[in-house]
Amino acid sequence: MRKIVIAGNWKMFKTQAESQEFLQGFLPTLEDTPQDREVVLCVPFTDLNLLSKSLHGSRVQLGAQNVHWEDSGAYTGEISGPMLQEIGVRYVIVGHSERRQYFGETDETVNLRLKAAQRHGLTPILCVGETKQQRDAGETESLIISQLETDLVNIDQGNLVIAYEPIWAIGTGDTCEASEANRVIGVIRKQLKNPDVPIQYGGSVKPNNIDEIMAQPEIDGVLVGGASLEPASFARIVNYK
Ligand code: G3P
Repeated sequence: MRKIVIAGNWKMFKTQAESQEFLQGFLPTLEDTPQDREVVLCVPFTDLNLLSKSLHGSRVQLGAQNVHWEDSGAYTGEISGPMLQEIGVRYVIVGHSERRQYFGETDETVNLRLKAAQRHGLTPILCVGETKQQRDAGETESLIISQLETDLVNIDQGNLVIAYEPIWAIGTGDTCEASEANRVIGVIRKQLKNPDVPIQYGGSVKPNNIDEIMAQPEIDGVLVGGASLEPASFARIVNYK
């Protein structure tokens, strides 16, 4: 039985005050959420400590948006696994396309970051996905297979979530057809040693498409950007039918 993981990625949004306002609206909506859904909020580093306290006793798990591969050192601007683990972080996004695109992360550094996350008991959410150009050139499968080949070297597939995020669908409102996301996620699953790894879809997930996405047999959850910033829309996503 694969786990269902519904995660919000707040990216570079929400001060601490704004995060508290969000929780006031969001937490009460979880009363009837089925217990088999893992609910995760991946928030900016500056919100983690406060949210670790605010989420205590709730069913929401805390997530970060990146982790460095060393435990400590002269790496200005980076955050390590022990730092995250100490404040109660359980999940960490690794290899998001925005990190690959704007901050020069490669499959090699993604692999190192995945290992660091697992070394400190965090569950990494590994993001993979193709650009529009790669899709149009018919390279979707080969690109994803090549990302996974390097990203997953010596990674424990018993403590891993993968998110298929086609880059052209991120923040554009141009959602990948649910059946197509299901097909690509099936391709990803075939590359894995462990068939029980939860695989999410991400890219313009909204209240109006969540039910169709989650009805797909290969899709085990979603990684949500914009629609996770507003309590009512994220609540509708978490409480999909
Ligand atoms: O990590 C989630 C993300 O990249 C998708 O963003 O705003 O299209 O839901 P969005």
